[in-house]
Order: sequence, then C-alpha cells, then structure tokens
Amino acid sequence: MEVLLIVIFLRKLYYVIERFLNRTIKEEQLKMTKAIAQEKGVSEAYGERKNWPPYTYRDYPDIKAETYEAFMKFLDTENTSGRLMELQPWISVCDSRCAFCYFPTAPTRKVQIEEYLLLLKKELDMYAKTRYVKTSVFDEIVLGGGTPSVLTAEQMIDLIDFCKQRFTTNKEYFIKVTGSSKTLALPKIDKLAAYGVYQMDMGAQTFDDKIRKLLCLPDSAADVERAIRHARKLGLCVCVDLMYNLPGQTMESWEQTLKKAIELDVEIDAYSLHVDPGTLLEKMIKTGKSPPIGDAEFEKQLYLKAYDMLTKAGYKAVGHDRFSRVEWHMRENCLNGWPWGGILTTGAGCFMGYLQRFSYSNIEDINEYMKVVSAGKLPIQRLSESDDDEMMRREMSRLYLRLPVSKKEFMEKFGKLPEDVFPKQLKNLLEKGLIEIDDKEVRITKQGEVWKGNIAWEFAAKQTA
Ligand SMILES: C[S@@+](CC[C@H](N)C(=O)[O-])C[C@H]1O[C@@H](n2cnc3c(N)ncnc32)[C@H](O)[C@@H]1O
Ligand code: SF4
Repeated sequence: MEVLLIVIFLRKLYYVIERFLNRTIKEEQLKMTKAIAQEKGVSEAYGERKNWPPYTYRDYPDIKAETYEAFMKFLDTENTSGRLMELQPWISVCDSRCAFCYFPTAPTRKVQIEEYLLLLKKELDMYAKTRYVKTSVFDEIVLGGGTPSVLTAEQMIDLIDFCKQRFTTNKEYFIKVTGSSKTLALPKIDKLAAYGVYQMDMGAQTFDDKIRKLLCLPDSAADVERAIRHARKLGLCVCVDLMYNLPGQTMESWEQTLKKAIELDVEIDAYSLHVDPGTLLEKMIKTGKSPPIGDAEFEKQLYLKAYDMLTKAGYKAVGHDRFSRVEWHMRENCLNGWPWGGILTTGAGCFMGYLQRFSYSNIEDINEYMKVVSAGKLPIQRLSESDDDEMMRREMSRLYLRLPVSKKEFMEKFGKLPEDVFPKQLKNLLEKGLIEIDDKEVRITKQGEVWKGNIAWEFAAKQTA
C-alpha cells in the first residue's frame, strides 16, 4: 500500500515538473513564433480559433417520422444536380481505443464482422435501389470508419466489388481505404494495391513515441513509418492524419512530426485536438494522468507552423484540414460540390452523409444498427432538411472549406446575392481583411485562412438573429 502511494505521489510530481518545464519551453517558443506571425501579418481577428464548423451532425435533430418520409420521397426523385458523389461505407470497428478519439466505434472482439458486413451491404442496397441513387454517379468509393483495416484484404475487396456492382461509377474514379498501421499488415497493403486501391488513409497522429504512448496508440512511430514506406513503394497515395496541440507536445515535437511526413511524401490532414467529453483523454487530463493541452495562442502557433513548413515544402492548404501536393485532391468533387453534391455514407455511426438539402448520421450502437437494418429500415439516427435560409448559410460555409462562393450560383439558387442576405457579416469580415469580394465571388484571404472556422460561424443562424 505504502509503495503504491509513493508511486502515485512520484508520478504526480513528475507531471508537475514536466508541466512546468513544458510551459517554460512553450513560452520561449511562443515568443519566437509570435514574432514570425507578426512579420507575416497574421491578424488577431478573434480570441480563439474555431476548428469545428457549423451545420455538422452534432447539430442535426433526432429523426422524426415526417423528415424520414420527406427523405424517402426525395430518394424517389431524379438526381439532376449534375454533380459527382462519394460513396462511403463505414467499418466502425477498432482493435483498440485511442485516448482522444470521438468516433463511435465498437471493439473488434465484440463484433460479428461477417454479419455486420452482410447488413452493411443490405443498407447499401436499400440506397442503390432508389431512383435518386440510380441516377447518381460516384467518383469515389471510400472505406471509412473506424478502421476498415481490421478486415482481411479479401473482405475489403469483396465490399468494394459490391459497391462497384451496385452503384454507377464515373469513368475516372478512385478507391480509398482507411487503415491504422496497428491492423494494416504489409501483405494486406500488397493485395489492396494489386486490386487497384488508389489511396490509403492512415491515422499517424504523431511520430513522437512518448506522446503515442500517452495517447494509447499501441504501435510505434517506426511501425507507422514502415507501413507508409511500403504503401508508397507500391505507388499508393498515402494520406496521414496528424494531430496538433496534443498533451505534452512541444513546437519541436510538432516540427519533427511534420518533417517526417514531408520526408515520407504523404498527403496530410492536420487536425487540432479537441478534447471531447467522455473520452479517456478528458478523464486523464482531469485526474492529472496527462498534462493539459496548450492554450489558444499556442494552438494557433502550431497551426501556423504547419502552414509555414508545408507550404514551403510545396503543399497547398485545401478543404477542411488537408495539405496536398496531389493535383486531383484539389478538384475532388465531394469537396468542391459542397453543399449541393453529396456523400452517401452507410454503416453504424457514420456521420458525414449529405444529399443536397438532407444531412444525416446513422445509429451509433452497432448491434442496434444491425437490428434496424435487418428489419428493412434505413438506420438513420439524426436527419436534417435545410430550407433556403439554412442552405444560404451552408453555401457560405464554403469559405470554411477554402472554396469561393460564386455569386452567379448563389443568384441562380436563391434569386439574391450574398451581399443582399449577409450585408453585416460581409462588411465586418471585409474590414478585418479576412475576405475579399469582387463581381464574381466571395473568398477568404490569406489572413482569413487561420480564422476560417470563425468566419463560417459568422453565417450560422444564431449569430444573425
Ligand atoms: C476515423 S479516424 C481514421 C483513422 C484510423 N481509424 C486510424 O486511427 O488510423 C479519423 C481521424 O480523426 C482524428 N481525430 C479523432 N479524434 C479526434 C479529436 N478528438 N480531435 C481531433 N481529431 C481527432 C484523428 O486524426 C483520426 O485519425
Ligand atoms: S483514431 Fe482511429 S483507430 Fe483510434 S479509436 Fe479512433 S477510429 Fe479507432
């Protein structure tokens, strides 16, 4: 007992000292990076960066009988949008749980994988039979989740084959598979590459082993690197998720991670850590088992560091959080078509689905999901139908995606210009130097880049009342 108390005391003492040292290092680094930011003219438009935009699944209402009916009626219409779509079946299963993760996944050992795959196909088939989907063309098939790499290569290929048979693909289309190096054995990558998979999406998070351990990432930085090198050698495009403002992460550690990603020649999704309620990480920070995350200023400096290093290395910032050197990523239809294109997502817990005015997320509990699909119903948990007012606001959130808002398209859809609908917001953002407007479009400026989340929130309903 005494030994245990001493161990707990020593661990707490270790974190207090580490926190103190980290803070001192961070303060020094902050002084330096603030000076760089001033030199580059980054404005202090807001106190804190918003990284989560409005109009995401967290805001959708629970499904009601009348919206379900309206959605079914919509699915019975022809798709005349003229936009290509993305098909996104989710395998919401993981071998282990990362401390920070908010994705609704189930542990592999508790899931009847074969049964889940059958029902996932059944859900896909329910959509495939509708008029809307029959008249839609897809240019991406993306196995997401979760961690589809918990499946065997044969199971993944069988699922992709099923999608190809049931849905119409464009002449040029791409297959992407999400995998974690903890479940992505090298022979699986060989089989996927031979089959014709174009891209592997991998949650690398950080190449700092100390932080990996703290976040319960079971594989080492060397394991992640090995999987990436293997996939790149086979000619696959690899896109890694990296996270910043992690507990204990210094500017130096972040720089090392970015350097490694550049060296491995991968595409990068750089996410700012959000400590979600209910995650293990939240508990660890509360109980002192983990150091806290950095403050808003440090978070911003980490973003600016990534922006600086990556643009110097030839990357372009595109979409939500992507830094890309691959030309095709810049013209991806599912991104550029927002908010009128579509992502048809399926599987337990999927939450990125949108088909024009309808946005939805599925039932999270995998067993409940399977029950509902078995009964022949679409397993939707939240469903939102946007009216014109909301569609105009969603259209403005193209700025969050670093996309211009075309005045011509706005006029065609709503019979008005953005300036007629949002005069106050646009004036305010113009004065702050965060956007530019000409006779063709509204777009964010270089200064607006860092505040793109805040810019999107300016157009959200509650702020305009
Ligand atoms: C569904 S995971 C896909 C990757 C795959 N499951 C893996 O871990 O290799 C999507 C990504 O979301 C990001 N993510 C998860 N929880 C997050 C959080 N709390 N804050 C910010 N990003 C988060 C992580 O970078 C993660 O890789
Ligand atoms: S980050 Fe990926 S592997 Fe980790 S728990 Fe989330 S979905 Fe699973």
